[in-house]
Amino acid sequence: MIRRTQLSWRRLLTKCGPLFLARNSQLNIRIHRVKSLAVAVRDYVLRSISQETGGLNVEAAKQFVDRLPDVLKRCDENIYGLPFAAEAYAFVHLVDRYRRFWDVLEALLRVGALPVRETALDVLDVGTGPAPALYAVNDFFEEMRTFATGTADCQRLHTVPPRLRSIEDSKAMIHLVHNLSEFTGRPGPFRPDRTKFEGFDPPAARVAKRERLIEELIDVWDYSEPEARFQVQIDQADWQGIDRYHFCIFSNFLTRVDDVLQRESELTHVFRALKPGGLVVVVGGSGSDYPRIYESIEGIAKKSNARRLGGVPNTIRCDYHNVEAEQIKQLYCSIFNAVEQLTPLDDVKKTLPRNRDLWDPSTPLRGPREFSIRAYRGPNRPPGTRFTRQVTC
Ligand SMILES: C[S@@+](CC[C@H](N)C(=O)[O-])C[C@H]1O[C@@H](n2cnc3c(N)ncnc32)[C@H](O)[C@@H]1O
Repeated sequence: MIRRTQLSWRRLLTKCGPLFLARNSQLNIRIHRVKSLAVAVRDYVLRSISQETGGLNVEAAKQFVDRLPDVLKRCDENIYGLPFAAEAYAFVHLVDRYRRFWDVLEALLRVGALPVRETALDVLDVGTGPAPALYAVNDFFEEMRTFATGTADCQRLHTVPPRLRSIEDSKAMIHLVHNLSEFTGRPGPFRPDRTKFEGFDPPAARVAKRERLIEELIDVWDYSEPEARFQVQIDQADWQGIDRYHFCIFSNFLTRVDDVLQRESELTHVFRALKPGGLVVVVGGSGSDYPRIYESIEGIAKKSNARRLGGVPNTIRCDYHNVEAEQIKQLYCSIFNAVEQLTPLDDVKKTLPRNRDLWDPSTPLRGPREFSIRAYRGPNRPPGTRFTRQVTC
């Protein structure tokens, strides 16, 4: 019998997770992180709507504010090619969704299910947008490394930084994330792995890579074809790892029932692309279409042998009465003040009567009462293993 020599990740997280969360709250870590992101977004937006010589560009500022109703009311439509839509989306949503994803990571940690490995964690975010989820993952793990360094018995949580992988279609979003990552000295993401989620098919990518390796062995190394095929089978590491992930994220991407139904094949591929024990996390709103969206996702997860994670709440409350919310409010006020000194904003205010908190300094920040999460764990199978259906006579 094999004797365990160290704690499993789950047990280690159960032991060290509460210490990490207590340290974060004692040192106001989240508040600092939210504040520095809000300041970065403010500076980035101001820079985007400024002239090269300094000072705001009236035309650019007008286009930017004209986009605000779009990113508030039509954010699940294909609006991101419109001028300043990416900047407007980041301005309105990035910081709030960033802190929501911290909530998700904390919830996973509390149940000992946060994906952690000694080697780099492969994290894929589908429909990355301005990267609220990937930025939260990066910062959360950065804090965990700092914590682990100084905490006896938790040093194993000092893991290699995660690899942030992205699927994002909008050129403007890709450009924004590249610049914002550079601007804030982050390790990325700098470019997506692919642009369209449609056609996401890791098994096909692995077959293609395997075939390329076979050709290379034949062309460059003079292998016969049977020898090359045999060699590639032995050297599985070169192609089996392609498009396999420990953590796949859909944050505000699957927002319509049709999106899920039309992308069933790609979603199935995501569940099957999980490394052993990997997680898929879906985050979105609650109410309206969401129960049906989650029902469809649940069906796809089941067919792929992924199980719903126990202990993670279905919904998390959003808090608009804390210091983090004040940081977001300050971000809104600073941009509106700057633009209003240049051009009247009465028209845009009229189009946003229900978003008074965005432009009226005396209205506190508001938003949805809660957001929803579903988390699924993939099976603990080695890469390449296929499940065969049990045949019963
Ligand atoms: C509503 S935003 C969500 C952004 C971010 N994940 C968040 O939580 O705020 C959806 C993003 O998905 C991208 N997108 C939409 N359809 C896509 C597709 N078929 N393939 C890749 N990206 C897509 C859009 O460009 C947009 O940036």
